[in-house]
Amino acid sequence: MSRIPLARPFWDEECERAAVNALSSGRWVKGPQAKAFGSEFANWCGAVAAVPCQSGSAALWAAMRLLDIGPGDEVIVPGMTFIATATAVSLVGATPVFADIEGDFWCICPDDVERKITPKTKAVIGVHIFGQPFSHRLKEICKINNIALIEDAAQAHGAMLNGEMAGSIGDIACFSFFPSKNMAVGGGGGMITTTRADLADRMRRLVDHGRDDSLESIELGTNLRMSEVSAAIGRIQLKHIDDWTAKRRANASILSHDTKARPNSEHSWHQLCLLRDDAESTISNFNEVGIDARVHYPIPCNRHQVYSEHIQHEVSLPVCDEIAHRLVAIPVHPSLTDEELDRINSALNP
Ligand SMILES: Cc1ncc(COP(=O)(O)O)c(C=O)c1O
Repeated sequence: MSRIPLARPFWDEECERAAVNALSSGRWVKGPQAKAFGSEFANWCGAVAAVPCQSGSAALWAAMRLLDIGPGDEVIVPGMTFIATATAVSLVGATPVFADIEGDFWCICPDDVERKITPKTKAVIGVHIFGQPFSHRLKEICKINNIALIEDAAQAHGAMLNGEMAGSIGDIACFSFFPSKNMAVGGGGGMITTTRADLADRMRRLVDHGRDDSLESIELGTNLRMSEVSAAIGRIQLKHIDDWTAKRRANASILSHDTKARPNSEHSWHQLCLLRDDAESTISNFNEVGIDARVHYPIPCNRHQVYSEHIQHEVSLPVCDEIAHRLVAIPVHPSLTDEELDRINSALNP
């Protein structure tokens, strides 16, 4: 009986041909593939512009630079997310301010965001955690307070909120194509998107040393460019993403009857997480029958050692503290076969 993994990166002959063609072209960076991938991705998610880059973390760093965020500024982030959401803020010398999450949907809590806004707040990073879109109230709060909204859409390709697709909800959005994500590029990769025409040119420059067409560096940037091979693979995967998302949704409805999706939204089911008091035994039961399962995320971000000097290191974010250790991710990916879905269902209902 073969093991059922939490993710199965997609690879087929068309991806292989696209990769080989990109290599054979001799144009390995700064070529037509990355350019086309950016505009196809922007069209797909309804953004004004999109630029491929090396990772979701690189996209988040670029978002900070695009909004001129630096020392003295604060950016509100959820206490439960992948650590890169917070460290992107620290890497530009600004301060991440950790907000608690919602008890039902596990995204950043709008009430806590409101409480944490100060005159230093420049932006909020809302994470569409596990593919669940964050609350639409975040958009209103940012607008009223004149602060930027960044979507961490690393896990949310194809998620929708009130008819808007992840990537076109906030000022800027950051996607990841890490191999386990809903779509991938044959290595690390990411995408920055924006809904603001005034940021589009800077966004293209930032991933290329802040240079303009004359190759003069106008502002501080670095090399965050995606390779042509990765972009070529990404373009093929983009053609499948809507079908894959539909399959993830179908799988989630077969496997989970108690995981909530936010009203007026469409989950992209990057992870299907179950809230369990007995997370450890759930995981070992799954593992014993050959199914991968894992806790996401065991430590609230403010409690990581990297934030041992942070003012909130010892401060409790009650919902984060309550839920950490208890969310168990199980396979929900689109390549699960009927037989594998049956096996997962049996493990869920022994
Ligand atoms: C919520 C979230 N933000 C950011 C990232 C960072 O993306 P990458 O691994 O491509 O740098 C990830 C990826 O794991 C993520 O899940």
